[in-house]
Amino acid sequence: MILDGKALSDRIKAELTAQTTAFTAQTGVTPCLATILVGEDPASAVYVRSKRRSCAKIGYESRHHHLPADTTQADLLQLVHDLNADDAVHGILVQLPLPKSIDADAIIDAIALHKDVDGFHPRSVGHLALKKPGFAPCTPAGIMRLLQESGIELSGKRAVVIGRSAIVGLPAVLMLTHADATVTVAHSRTTRADLEDLVRKADVVVAAVGRPEFVPGAWIKPGAVVIDVGINRVPNPADPDNPRGMLVGDVEFAAAAERASWITPVPGGVGPMTIAMLMTNTLVAARRAAGLVAFGRSGNQPPEPDRRSDGRS
Ligand code: GUN
Repeated sequence: MILDGKALSDRIKAELTAQTTAFTAQTGVTPCLATILVGEDPASAVYVRSKRRSCAKIGYESRHHHLPADTTQADLLQLVHDLNADDAVHGILVQLPLPKSIDADAIIDAIALHKDVDGFHPRSVGHLALKKPGFAPCTPAGIMRLLQESGIELSGKRAVVIGRSAIVGLPAVLMLTHADATVTVAHSRTTRADLEDLVRKADVVVAAVGRPEFVPGAWIKPGAVVIDVGINRVPNPADPDNPRGMLVGDVEFAAAAERASWITPVPGGVGPMTIAMLMTNTLVAARRAAGLVAFGRSGNQPPEPDRRSDGRS
Protein backbone atom coordinates (compact mmCIF):
# COMPACT_ATOMS: atom_id res chain seq x y z
CA MET A 1 0.00 0.00 0.00
CA ILE A 2 1.06 3.53 -0.68
CA LEU A 3 1.93 5.84 2.21
CA ASP A 4 0.25 8.91 0.77
CA GLY A 5 2.12 11.86 2.26
CA LYS A 6 0.35 14.33 0.01
CA ALA A 7 -3.11 13.31 1.25
CA LEU A 8 -2.05 13.32 4.91
CA SER A 9 -0.27 16.64 4.47
CA ASP A 10 -3.44 18.15 2.97
CA ARG A 11 -5.44 16.86 5.94
CA ILE A 12 -2.96 18.28 8.47
CA LYS A 13 -2.94 21.64 6.70
CA ALA A 14 -6.76 21.71 6.71
CA GLU A 15 -6.70 21.05 10.47
CA LEU A 16 -4.11 23.79 10.94
CA THR A 17 -6.29 26.20 8.97
CA ALA A 18 -9.21 25.65 11.36
CA GLN A 19 -6.94 25.90 14.41
CA THR A 20 -5.37 29.09 13.07
CA THR A 21 -8.75 30.71 12.52
CA ALA A 22 -9.67 29.96 16.13
CA PHE A 23 -6.26 31.07 17.43
CA THR A 24 -6.35 34.36 15.57
CA ALA A 25 -9.94 35.02 16.66
CA GLN A 26 -8.96 34.36 20.29
CA THR A 27 -5.68 36.28 20.40
CA GLY A 28 -5.68 38.72 17.49
CA VAL A 29 -2.33 37.23 16.51
CA THR A 30 -1.51 35.92 13.04
CA PRO A 31 1.19 33.22 13.09
CA CYS A 32 4.23 34.43 11.15
CA LEU A 33 7.06 32.48 9.56
CA ALA A 34 10.12 34.39 8.38
CA THR A 35 11.94 32.71 5.50
CA ILE A 36 15.49 33.54 4.44
CA LEU A 37 16.89 32.48 1.09
CA VAL A 38 20.47 33.41 0.22
CA GLY A 39 21.52 33.21 -3.43
CA GLU A 40 19.84 31.75 -6.47
CA ASP A 41 19.84 27.97 -6.00
CA PRO A 42 16.78 26.97 -8.07
CA ALA A 43 15.80 23.96 -5.93
CA SER A 44 15.96 26.06 -2.75
CA ALA A 45 13.83 28.74 -4.39
CA VAL A 46 11.20 26.10 -5.25
CA TYR A 47 11.18 24.76 -1.67
CA VAL A 48 10.85 28.21 -0.11
CA ARG A 49 8.06 29.16 -2.51
CA SER A 50 6.22 25.99 -1.60
CA LYS A 51 6.58 26.71 2.14
CA ARG A 52 5.33 30.27 1.66
CA ARG A 53 2.38 29.05 -0.39
CA SER A 54 1.42 26.71 2.45
CA CYS A 55 1.62 29.63 4.90
CA ALA A 56 -0.75 31.68 2.77
CA LYS A 57 -3.17 28.78 2.38
CA ILE A 58 -3.35 28.14 6.13
CA GLY A 59 -3.61 31.82 7.09
CA TYR A 60 -0.10 32.52 8.35
CA GLU A 61 1.88 35.57 7.45
CA SER A 62 5.16 34.79 5.71
CA ARG A 63 7.92 37.36 5.59
CA HIS A 64 10.44 36.57 2.96
CA HIS A 65 14.03 37.80 2.87
CA HIS A 66 15.82 37.00 -0.38
CA LEU A 67 19.45 38.02 -0.05
CA PRO A 68 22.15 38.05 -2.74
CA ALA A 69 24.69 35.20 -2.89
CA ASP A 70 27.46 37.58 -1.77
CA THR A 71 25.68 38.51 1.47
CA THR A 72 28.19 38.66 4.31
CA GLN A 73 28.07 36.50 7.38
CA ALA A 74 27.68 39.64 9.51
CA ASP A 75 24.67 40.88 7.53
CA LEU A 76 22.94 37.51 7.69
CA LEU A 77 23.61 37.25 11.42
CA GLN A 78 22.17 40.72 11.90
CA LEU A 79 19.00 39.72 10.05
CA VAL A 80 18.59 36.64 12.26
CA HIS A 81 19.10 38.76 15.36
CA ASP A 82 16.52 41.27 14.13
CA LEU A 83 14.00 38.48 13.51
CA ASN A 84 14.74 36.99 16.94
CA ALA A 85 13.89 40.32 18.52
CA ASP A 86 10.71 40.86 16.46
CA ASP A 87 7.73 39.69 18.53
CA ALA A 88 5.54 39.49 15.41
CA VAL A 89 7.77 36.73 13.99
CA HIS A 90 7.15 33.28 15.50
CA GLY A 91 9.30 31.00 13.34
CA ILE A 92 12.56 31.54 11.44
CA LEU A 93 13.56 29.35 8.53
CA VAL A 94 16.99 29.76 6.93
CA GLN A 95 16.91 27.67 3.77
CA LEU A 96 19.91 25.38 3.40
CA PRO A 97 22.38 25.03 1.82
CA LEU A 98 23.87 28.47 2.36
CA PRO A 99 26.67 29.76 0.10
CA LYS A 100 30.08 28.34 1.02
CA SER A 101 31.30 31.76 2.13
CA ILE A 102 28.87 31.64 5.07
CA ASP A 103 29.30 29.52 8.19
CA ALA A 104 25.89 27.83 8.28
CA ASP A 105 26.44 26.46 11.79
CA ALA A 106 26.99 29.95 13.17
CA ILE A 107 23.77 31.16 11.52
CA ILE A 108 21.69 28.26 12.86
CA ASP A 109 23.25 28.73 16.31
CA ALA A 110 22.00 32.33 16.27
CA ILE A 111 18.32 31.41 15.79
CA ALA A 112 16.37 31.81 19.04
CA LEU A 113 15.43 28.37 20.31
CA HIS A 114 11.71 29.15 20.57
CA LYS A 115 11.66 30.26 16.91
CA ASP A 116 13.68 27.28 15.61
CA VAL A 117 10.76 25.71 13.73
CA ASP A 118 13.19 23.72 11.53
CA GLY A 119 14.60 22.03 14.65
CA PHE A 120 18.19 22.42 13.41
CA HIS A 121 19.63 24.35 16.40
CA PRO A 122 22.13 22.19 18.34
CA ARG A 123 20.06 22.64 21.48
CA SER A 124 16.91 21.52 19.65
CA VAL A 125 18.80 18.43 18.51
CA GLY A 126 20.01 17.87 22.09
CA HIS A 127 16.47 18.18 23.42
CA LEU A 128 15.29 15.67 20.83
CA ALA A 129 18.08 13.24 21.76
CA LEU A 130 17.13 13.49 25.44
CA LYS A 131 13.36 13.35 24.77
CA LYS A 132 12.87 16.83 26.19
CA PRO A 133 10.28 19.24 24.74
CA GLY A 134 11.49 21.04 21.66
CA PHE A 135 11.07 21.35 17.93
CA ALA A 136 11.96 18.22 15.98
CA PRO A 137 13.37 18.47 12.44
CA CYS A 138 10.48 18.44 10.01
CA THR A 139 11.41 15.59 7.64
CA PRO A 140 11.87 12.87 10.27
CA ALA A 141 8.90 14.28 12.24
CA GLY A 142 6.86 13.92 9.05
CA ILE A 143 8.04 10.34 8.61
CA MET A 144 7.02 9.47 12.17
CA ARG A 145 3.60 11.09 11.72
CA LEU A 146 3.05 9.18 8.46
CA LEU A 147 3.93 5.88 10.17
CA GLN A 148 1.77 6.69 13.17
CA GLU A 149 -1.29 7.75 11.15
CA SER A 150 -1.01 4.57 9.07
CA GLY A 151 -1.10 2.43 12.23
CA ILE A 152 2.38 1.02 11.63
CA GLU A 153 3.77 -0.48 14.82
CA LEU A 154 7.46 0.24 15.46
CA SER A 155 8.08 -1.28 18.89
CA GLY A 156 10.61 -4.10 18.62
CA LYS A 157 10.86 -3.74 14.83
CA ARG A 158 14.22 -3.69 13.06
CA ALA A 159 14.74 -0.36 11.34
CA VAL A 160 17.65 0.61 9.15
CA VAL A 161 18.28 4.28 8.44
CA ILE A 162 20.49 4.85 5.41
CA GLY A 163 22.14 8.26 5.77
CA ARG A 164 23.35 10.16 8.84
CA SER A 165 22.72 13.81 7.91
CA ALA A 166 21.87 16.30 10.65
CA ILE A 167 18.63 17.17 8.84
CA VAL A 168 17.22 13.67 8.27
CA GLY A 169 19.26 10.54 9.09
CA LEU A 170 20.52 11.40 12.55
CA PRO A 171 17.21 12.72 13.96
CA ALA A 172 15.36 9.81 12.27
CA VAL A 173 17.62 7.42 14.21
CA LEU A 174 16.73 9.24 17.44
CA MET A 175 13.00 9.31 16.77
CA LEU A 176 12.79 5.65 15.71
CA THR A 177 14.78 4.73 18.82
CA HIS A 178 12.36 6.70 20.99
CA ALA A 179 9.54 4.75 19.30
CA ASP A 180 11.21 1.54 20.54
CA ALA A 181 12.45 0.27 17.18
CA THR A 182 15.81 -1.52 17.05
CA VAL A 183 17.72 0.91 14.88
CA THR A 184 20.84 0.49 12.74
CA VAL A 185 22.39 3.39 10.85
CA ALA A 186 24.11 2.81 7.53
CA HIS A 187 26.04 5.52 5.72
CA SER A 188 28.50 6.28 2.94
CA ARG A 189 31.23 4.14 4.53
CA THR A 190 28.98 1.11 5.10
CA THR A 191 30.05 -1.61 2.67
CA ARG A 192 27.58 -2.55 -0.04
CA ALA A 193 27.54 -6.13 1.31
CA ASP A 194 26.73 -4.94 4.85
CA LEU A 195 24.08 -2.59 3.51
CA GLU A 196 22.39 -5.41 1.61
CA ASP A 197 22.49 -7.59 4.69
CA LEU A 198 20.95 -4.88 6.87
CA VAL A 199 18.22 -3.98 4.36
CA ARG A 200 17.28 -7.63 3.78
CA LYS A 201 16.66 -8.04 7.54
CA ALA A 202 14.90 -4.71 8.11
CA ASP A 203 11.20 -4.36 8.91
CA VAL A 204 11.49 -0.62 8.22
CA VAL A 205 13.87 0.97 5.71
CA VAL A 206 14.42 4.73 5.76
CA ALA A 207 16.52 5.74 2.75
CA ALA A 208 18.00 9.24 2.92
CA VAL A 209 21.20 9.24 0.87
CA GLY A 210 20.25 11.35 -2.13
CA ARG A 211 21.39 8.82 -4.73
CA PRO A 212 18.92 7.64 -7.37
CA GLU A 213 17.66 4.07 -6.79
CA PHE A 214 20.57 3.36 -4.45
CA VAL A 215 18.61 0.54 -2.77
CA PRO A 216 17.57 -2.26 -5.17
CA GLY A 217 13.95 -3.31 -4.72
CA ALA A 218 15.01 -6.96 -4.55
CA TRP A 219 16.70 -6.28 -1.18
CA ILE A 220 13.44 -5.32 0.52
CA LYS A 221 12.15 -7.95 2.93
CA PRO A 222 8.63 -9.08 2.01
CA GLY A 223 6.18 -7.09 4.15
CA ALA A 224 8.70 -4.39 5.10
CA VAL A 225 7.84 -0.68 5.30
CA VAL A 226 9.84 1.53 2.91
CA ILE A 227 10.29 5.26 3.56
CA ASP A 228 12.05 6.96 0.66
CA VAL A 229 13.37 10.43 1.48
CA GLY A 230 15.32 10.85 -1.77
CA ILE A 231 14.26 13.31 -4.45
CA ASN A 232 16.66 12.80 -7.38
CA ARG A 233 16.22 14.28 -10.83
CA VAL A 234 17.34 11.87 -13.58
CA PRO A 235 16.86 11.67 -17.36
CA ASN A 236 13.47 10.24 -18.30
CA PRO A 237 13.99 7.22 -20.62
CA ALA A 238 10.46 7.70 -21.96
CA ASP A 239 11.15 11.37 -22.79
CA PRO A 240 14.95 11.70 -23.22
CA ASP A 241 14.79 15.18 -24.78
CA ASN A 242 12.99 16.70 -21.82
CA PRO A 243 15.68 18.61 -19.87
CA ARG A 244 13.58 18.42 -16.69
CA GLY A 245 13.88 14.63 -16.69
CA MET A 246 11.96 12.85 -13.93
CA LEU A 247 12.11 12.43 -10.16
CA VAL A 248 13.13 9.15 -8.56
CA GLY A 249 13.81 8.24 -4.96
CA ASP A 250 16.71 6.48 -3.25
CA VAL A 251 14.88 3.15 -3.58
CA GLU A 252 14.08 1.29 -6.79
CA PHE A 253 10.35 1.88 -6.47
CA ALA A 254 8.63 -0.63 -8.77
CA ALA A 255 10.56 -3.66 -7.52
CA ALA A 256 10.39 -2.52 -3.88
CA ALA A 257 6.62 -1.94 -4.14
CA GLU A 258 6.15 -5.61 -5.12
CA ARG A 259 7.64 -6.69 -1.80
CA ALA A 260 6.82 -3.94 0.70
CA SER A 261 3.66 -3.79 2.80
CA TRP A 262 3.83 0.02 2.76
CA ILE A 263 5.94 2.33 0.62
CA THR A 264 6.19 6.10 0.10
CA PRO A 265 6.04 7.36 -3.50
CA VAL A 266 8.46 9.95 -4.90
CA PRO A 267 7.15 12.58 -5.28
CA GLY A 268 4.12 12.72 -2.95
CA GLY A 269 5.45 10.78 0.03
CA VAL A 270 7.84 12.31 2.53
CA GLY A 271 8.24 15.72 0.80
CA PRO A 272 4.77 17.12 1.53
CA MET A 273 5.00 15.85 5.13
CA THR A 274 8.09 17.99 5.72
CA ILE A 275 6.09 21.11 4.94
CA ALA A 276 3.12 19.94 7.02
CA MET A 277 5.43 19.57 10.04
CA LEU A 278 6.98 23.00 9.45
CA MET A 279 3.49 24.49 9.42
CA THR A 280 2.61 22.57 12.60
CA ASN A 281 5.72 23.85 14.34
CA THR A 282 4.96 27.43 13.29
CA LEU A 283 1.50 27.36 14.92
CA VAL A 284 2.99 25.76 18.05
CA ALA A 285 5.54 28.60 18.20
CA ALA A 286 2.81 31.24 17.78
CA ARG A 287 0.58 29.64 20.42
CA ARG A 288 3.47 29.46 22.81
CA ALA A 289 4.45 33.08 22.19
CA ALA A 290 0.84 34.08 22.92
CA GLY A 291 1.10 32.35 26.29
CA LEU A 292 -1.21 29.48 25.38
CA VAL A 293 -0.40 25.93 26.33
CA ALA A 294 1.28 24.18 23.43
CA PHE A 295 -0.75 21.51 21.72
CA GLY A 296 0.29 18.39 19.92
CA ARG A 297 2.59 15.56 20.83
CA SER A 298 5.51 16.06 23.12
CA GLY A 299 8.01 15.98 20.27
CA ASN A 300 6.41 19.04 18.75
CA GLN A 301 6.34 21.22 21.83
CA PRO A 302 8.89 23.99 22.08
CA PRO A 303 10.94 24.78 25.13
CA GLU A 304 10.48 27.88 27.24
CA PRO A 305 11.29 31.06 25.30
CA ASP A 306 14.76 32.38 25.99
CA ARG A 307 14.76 35.05 28.65
CA ARG A 308 17.66 37.09 27.32
CA SER A 309 16.38 40.48 26.30
CA ASP A 310 17.90 40.33 22.82
CA GLY A 311 16.09 37.06 22.10
CA ARG A 312 19.32 35.24 21.32
CA SER A 313 19.77 31.73 22.54
N1 GUN B 1 17.23 22.23 2.91
C1 GUN B 1 16.80 20.98 2.63
N2 GUN B 1 15.81 20.65 3.49
C2 GUN B 1 15.62 21.70 4.31
C3 GUN B 1 14.73 21.95 5.39
O1 GUN B 1 13.91 21.12 5.81
N3 GUN B 1 14.85 23.18 5.96
C4 GUN B 1 15.74 24.09 5.55
N4 GUN B 1 15.80 25.25 6.20
N5 GUN B 1 16.58 23.89 4.56
C5 GUN B 1 16.51 22.69 3.94
